[in-house]
Amino acid sequence: MAVDLLLGLQWGDEGKGKIVDVLTSKYNIIARFQGGPNAGHTLVFNGKKHVLHTIPSGIFHENAINLVGNGVVIDPVIFKKELEKLDEQSVNYKDKLFISRKAHIILPTHRLLDAASEASKGKAKIGSTLKGIGPTYMDKTGRNGLRIGDLELEDWEEKYRALADKHEAMIGFYDVDIQYNLAELETEFFKALKTLKSLKFIDSEEYIFQAQKEGKSILAEGAQGSLLDIDFGTYPFVTSSNTTAAGACTGLGVAPNKIGDVLGIFKAYTTRVGSGPFPTELFDEDGATMSRVGNEFGATTGRARRCGWLDLVALKYACQINGVTKLMMMKADVLSGFKTLKVCTAYNYKGQTIDHLPFNIEPENVSPIYTEMKGWNEDLTGMNSSSQLPKALNDYIDFLEKELELSITIVSVGPDREQTIFR
Ligand code: IMP
Repeated sequence: MAVDLLLGLQWGDEGKGKIVDVLTSKYNIIARFQGGPNAGHTLVFNGKKHVLHTIPSGIFHENAINLVGNGVVIDPVIFKKELEKLDEQSVNYKDKLFISRKAHIILPTHRLLDAASEASKGKAKIGSTLKGIGPTYMDKTGRNGLRIGDLELEDWEEKYRALADKHEAMIGFYDVDIQYNLAELETEFFKALKTLKSLKFIDSEEYIFQAQKEGKSILAEGAQGSLLDIDFGTYPFVTSSNTTAAGACTGLGVAPNKIGDVLGIFKAYTTRVGSGPFPTELFDEDGATMSRVGNEFGATTGRARRCGWLDLVALKYACQINGVTKLMMMKADVLSGFKTLKVCTAYNYKGQTIDHLPFNIEPENVSPIYTEMKGWNEDLTGMNSSSQLPKALNDYIDFLEKELELSITIVSVGPDREQTIFR
């Protein structure tokens, strides 16, 4: 059976966690394929909020298998904390949470290297979540990394020591003052490894291959968003993995011809956390309203997210790169109360009108060209069918569908599982 993909189409924080949770009952397996604890996937049900960082968002469902794929990087300390949260809620994960032996491990020194690298960049900093993501993927591509499967080998501790020592020497090369107590960090790390080792490590590509043969349905859950992709995002202000559809092939071992639907998630407006260009960013009252009503603060770092109007140039680009087949629009409720809505349909690029994403979208090169639309006042949060939606919102949806040449199949009108309208 084909593997469906679920991806964020903007700069992350689109609401992937909620939709995975909503859709999990349709799938046998939920598999994360890239990123690590830089992600914060928020799920709300039965009046309670849950935030997951590395564990797939299907974990609260009784029967779904949750797989952490080879493309993911794992911080054992954060993973252990996530498990403890699940324990508090009596979620049984032992028999349904599997980790790929090929997933790479974030060492305490990766986090220190991340901090040193960011501090050394000064004003040019990326705004990393400082979870050690970049240095861990650097070790992966540099062929120095340590993987989950290494934990089962006898020379694991030697390998660990050699890499950690090398990292310490590298930290010394940065001209910044990073304070740390490695012995303390290592005590916590080795304790967390014990917990991690109580879980099931598997050859995940083989597991997925067999599951496909048996007709099991699989949903691949992306993290971050397409505009943070290492190749196609707003480089260098990006994360260190392929967040786009191709990342699911390499991050799980799924062949391209085995991909089914590509579900693209976007917010009805745009947000970005961290540094980097953002053509439709607002610095006025409208942006402040989106931030306040949308509660736009990072689930992982608590940082305020930058807010702006929907950027269709960037969204179209993301749909193309990913081969999106269905769209899902999140946080429509946050736009209630705006008299006029703006949608960016083209850029003014060095004096020319263009409708594609150029190499350089810094503000000195690009300014957005907007189409204005009528807003709506109705509170959407209690609505549960498409027919209840205000006309102005339906017009907004129709406009987006025409521009993107894709159907919007879900409109989310609040954070709760129940606040989801299927179209
Ligand atoms: P890193 O991946 O933690 O190094 O962060 C690189 C950039 O990606 C920074 O701008 C982060 O704010 C952003 N980023 C990383 N993960 C997420 C996420 O899950 N949601 C939104 N932004 C993210």
